[in-house]
Amino acid sequence: MSLARASSKYLFPAVGAVGAIGLGWHFYSSRIYNDTAKTFKDNGEWIDLKLKDSWNISANTKHYVFELNSPEDVSGLVTASCLLAKYVTPKGNNVIRPYTPVSDVNQKGTIEFIIKTYPEGKFSKYVYDLKPNDTVSFKGPIVKWKWEPNQFKHISLIGGGSGITPLYQLLHEITKNPEDNTKVDLFYGSLSTQDILMKKELDKIAAEHKDQVNIHYFVDKSSDDWTGHTGHITKDFLKENLPAPSADAKIFVCGPPPLYKAISGPKNSPTDQGEVTGALADLGYSKEHVFKF
Ligand SMILES: Cc1cc2nc3c(=O)[nH]c(=O)nc-3n(C[C@H](O)[C@H](O)[C@H](O)COP(=O)(O)OP(=O)(O)OC[C@H]3O[C@@H](n4cnc5c(N)ncnc54)[C@H](O)[C@@H]3O)c2cc1C
Ligand SMILES: *[C@@H]1O[C@H](CO)[C@@H](O)[C@H](O)[C@H]1NC(C)=O
Ligand SMILES: *[C@@H]1O[C@H](CO)[C@@H](O)[C@H](O)[C@H]1NC(C)=O
Repeated sequence: MSLARASSKYLFPAVGAVGAIGLGWHFYSSRIYNDTAKTFKDNGEWIDLKLKDSWNISANTKHYVFELNSPEDVSGLVTASCLLAKYVTPKGNNVIRPYTPVSDVNQKGTIEFIIKTYPEGKFSKYVYDLKPNDTVSFKGPIVKWKWEPNQFKHISLIGGGSGITPLYQLLHEITKNPEDNTKVDLFYGSLSTQDILMKKELDKIAAEHKDQVNIHYFVDKSSDDWTGHTGHITKDFLKENLPAPSADAKIFVCGPPPLYKAISGPKNSPTDQGEVTGALADLGYSKEHVFKF
């Protein structure tokens, strides 16, 4: 299966008349026969999902498709949310990690993730080795930021590496809704051009929403044909390209610890955003302007 076909097959299933009729029918029948039709109900239950398919999208990152409880189910998530995934080691220890789906919240029957594999990573190594029909326990959802259409006039998404996942959720949710006019700037840093995750999906969104979406790619190591930026996302670049601090604009940040340190400062804990420090603080942004995933 080619990468392009695989990702379009699962991420954009509603393309074409047949898909539209199919979705219409599923919506209708699930309303009649099952009011909720959500696999995840935030009731504390661990639910085993079967791995349907997985494929490499970069040297260290894989795309995973899991089957929901029923082909009629939606996940039950809203944008932006994550799920907890659990792996019980042979010694009986629980390894629990949060992951952010990249599939549409209304997608029926499956849910998709993008997970970076760390050489010594307890959960990511485990999931990397799973075969189709193996299961993983998930629990949730955990809502990180409940997006409402036109919540802000302008949002800026600043991310690095696999931190793209919640930012992609927001970008996708906003641009699929013709009523949502929020302007979106994405500043996305990667190690090299080969490490830019979901570039095809991101470029498609940008091309289809030229007046609404701007994507600024940054890579540490560039190649000869690279037309994006080289180096880290800098304070000077943000100064030129972010809207001035205001209640109409919000900045969302997600990435590895060094990115938080440089751009926004770290979170104190999952429930405590901490003060804004780093480049954003220097540029006059404070707690009310910034959300750290
Ligand atoms: C809300 C949220 C959403 C997330 N969504 C995603 C997502 O969509 N996709 C994704 O890929 N990830 C996501 N993550 C990250 C994910 O939850 C895991 O942290 C990640 O997969 C690593 O888990 P692991 O068990 O594989 O690695 P771990 O065993 O936790 O180790 C991770 C790496 O850190 C190193 N390490 C471990 N302990 C230490 C230490 N004490 N000091 C220094 N280095 C150490 C390991 O060697 C390894 O390289 C998310 C995180 C959060 C908080
Ligand atoms: C996926 O990537 C890993 C690590 O780079 C590699 O060893 C493996 O052969 C790749 N698998 C496929 C199907 O390309
Ligand atoms: C997975 O399960 C399905 C249905 O039970 C079966 O048809 C399929 O062959 C299995 N796939 C693998 C790779 O075992």
